Amino acid sequence: MAQVSTALEVEVLSKTFPAVAKRSANRVLENIKLAIEPESFVVLTGPSGCGKSTLLNIIAGLDDDFDGEVRFQSLDARRAYIFQSPRLLPWRTIEENILLPLKDDDPRRAKVPAMLERVGLAEAADAYPERVSLGMQRRASLARGFILEPDILLMDEPFVSLDDPTAQDLRKLLIDLYKRRPTTILFVTHDRSEAVMLGTRILRLDGGSATIVQDEVVQLRSQDRSDPGKVRAERARIFADV
Ligand SMILES: Nc1ncnc2c1ncn2[C@@H]1O[C@H](COP(=O)(O)OP(=O)(O)OP(=O)(O)O)[C@@H](O)[C@H]1O
Ligand SMILES: [Mg+2]
Repeated sequence: MAQVSTALEVEVLSKTFPAVAKRSANRVLENIKLAIEPESFVVLTGPSGCGKSTLLNIIAGLDDDFDGEVRFQSLDARRAYIFQSPRLLPWRTIEENILLPLKDDDPRRAKVPAMLERVGLAEAADAYPERVSLGMQRRASLARGFILEPDILLMDEPFVSLDDPTAQDLRKLLIDLYKRRPTTILFVTHDRSEAVMLGTRILRLDGGSATIVQDEVVQLRSQDRSDPGKVRAERARIFADV
C-alpha cells in the first residue's frame, strides 16, 4: 500500500463485474480520481445502482478486483465500515457487539462503558439487539465504528428507513462523535438534505460507467447546519441541476 500526504487518494480507472450466467459484464466505475483531506466529511451521492457501495467496498479493502489504486496517509490506516443494516450479532448483547472487534488485551475495551453512555445505550448494554429499536441498533453500530478509533470511517446509508426525528437524533450523535474524535469520513446517502447537513464536501457519481460528475465544498458554517432555511438554500445551490 503506497503512502500519500492526504488522508487518502483513490484512483479507480475502472471496475467491472464479470459476466455471470445471462448477465453480461458490467463496467460500473471509471476514471475516478480523488484526494481526500484528513478529517474531512465527504458525502457520496448518486442514483441507485451507480456504484456508490462498490466504491466504498474498494476503499474498505473488501474488493481488490479493480484497475487502479487506493493510497493512505499511513501505511497501517485503520478503516471502519458502518453498513446500512446494523449487522449486530443477535446472540450477543449490545455491549458484547461493540466489544466484538477488540481483542482481549485491547486498551480500547476500557472505553466501551463511556461510549455506551455517550450514545445513550448504557441502560440497554445487556439487551439483545432484537429487543431494542432499529434506532438503538444504529446507535450501537455507530459506537462499534467509533470505538475502533479509525483513520477512515466508511458509512453506507447508515440512517436510511428511520423516521425523521430518529434520523435527526442519530445525525446529531454522529456530529458529536466526530467532533470528539475527528476522523476522515466517507458517507453515502440519497438524502440531499442529510448530505448538506453533514458533509464538508459532496461528490456526485453518475453515468452508465459512473464517474464523479460534481465535487462541491459545502458552504455552511457548523452553526448553520441545524438551520432548515440555510440547509434548504445550500441544498438548492448544490443540487440545482438534478
Ligand atoms: N457482486 C456483484 N456482482 C455483479 N454485479 C454487482 C455486484 N455488486 C453490485 N453489482 C452491480 O454494480 C452496480 C452498482 O452497484 P452498487 O451496489 O455499488 O450501487 P449503489 O450506487 O450502491 O446503489 P444503491 O444506491 O441502490 O445502494 C449495479 O448495477 C449492481 O447491480
Ligand atoms: Mg449502495
